Amino acid sequence: MIRAKITGTGMYVPDRVVTNKDLEQLMDTSDEWIRQRSGIEQRHYVEPGQLPSDLAEAAARQAIEDAGLEPDQIDCIVLATLSPEAEFPGTSFFLQERLGGHVPCFDLKAQCSGFLYSLGVARSFVKSGQYKRVLVVGCEVHSTGIDLTTEGRDVAVLFGDGAGAIVVEADDDPDGRSDILSVVLHAEGKYAKKLWIEAPGSGFQPTRITQELIEEKRHFPRMQGKFVFKHAVTRMPEALREALDEAGIKQPDVDLFLFHQANLRINEFVANAMEIPPEKTRNNMQRYGNCSAASIPMLIAEARREGSIEPGSIVSMTGFGSGFSWASAVVRW
Ligand code: ACO
Repeated sequence: MIRAKITGTGMYVPDRVVTNKDLEQLMDTSDEWIRQRSGIEQRHYVEPGQLPSDLAEAAARQAIEDAGLEPDQIDCIVLATLSPEAEFPGTSFFLQERLGGHVPCFDLKAQCSGFLYSLGVARSFVKSGQYKRVLVVGCEVHSTGIDLTTEGRDVAVLFGDGAGAIVVEADDDPDGRSDILSVVLHAEGKYAKKLWIEAPGSGFQPTRITQELIEEKRHFPRMQGKFVFKHAVTRMPEALREALDEAGIKQPDVDLFLFHQANLRINEFVANAMEIPPEKTRNNMQRYGNCSAASIPMLIAEARREGSIEPGSIVSMTGFGSGFSWASAVVRW
């Protein structure tokens, strides 16, 4: 049987740090409000001229090098994003150009669950024998797509820019145990409009974006925060349990639980509800904000770098996001 092994990790955030105090200059908000509601203290924003593919490339090269590979040894690129560099083609194509070669690549849009959805795709590609080495990237540039005025403050203060990447490789060593043991994916489209950006959209006529849409600020995200919160804290434990069951792993045997980095209160709520001890979780939204599809791979890369994930570690990951979409995975490193 072919196993799907994570062999490399990487992450990148732009140098520009934007603190809660900096946001106080742009809108009616406060450091205290943001910290209390979300745990976020600062985030990183791109510099003028810096592109999503710059972030994706930096994270991808780190992951490829960490796997001991050269870019030309990658067979396929799956890039999760809700903030693509262009309407089309996907950011993955700009990344592929930089890495060279003619390997297939595509974007996957499942918002904050995008990385785990992509992990599921990569796992299937590898286990089916279609590809041996799949690069999975989560990449977001939110700072150019949020309303940085008081009107947009409920969403704007939560998001940051960043990229994370992993390499998933086929392994058929009969003595090996490293594997992506399970990936469970769910969605509930009836809540699509509870957290969304509606424009540009091909449903608008005569053109996808108009002056009127911009004046009405319909090209900025809108969120019913409390509604999202309530669903996140219900769905995340459900998915986590399901992924553990499917992997045949008991909760106490998990070494590290990694949650999507939307909000510290959501993650504490989930950890408390599931009686997960704090030392088995880690969060980085305090420093990076919510980087949507990039959050979990950034967290993985930091955990690897700091030694909290070692060969043999059992790692459980869970996310919830717009769509609604939610997902969970269990990996033996
Ligand atoms: N600064 C100061 N005040 C603010 C801000 C801000 N940035 N934003 C909102 N407020 C005000 C509101 O206007 C409101 O004022 P009012 O009482 O005078 O009307 C008050 O603060 C409370 O607002 P609520 O929306 O009720 O605040 P809540 O306690 O629900 O916290 C939050 C808001 C943090 C957004 C919370 O609902 C939440 O975390 N939701 C989940 C978010 C999430 O997870 N989103 C993402 C998944 S992301 C993805 O998939 C892309």
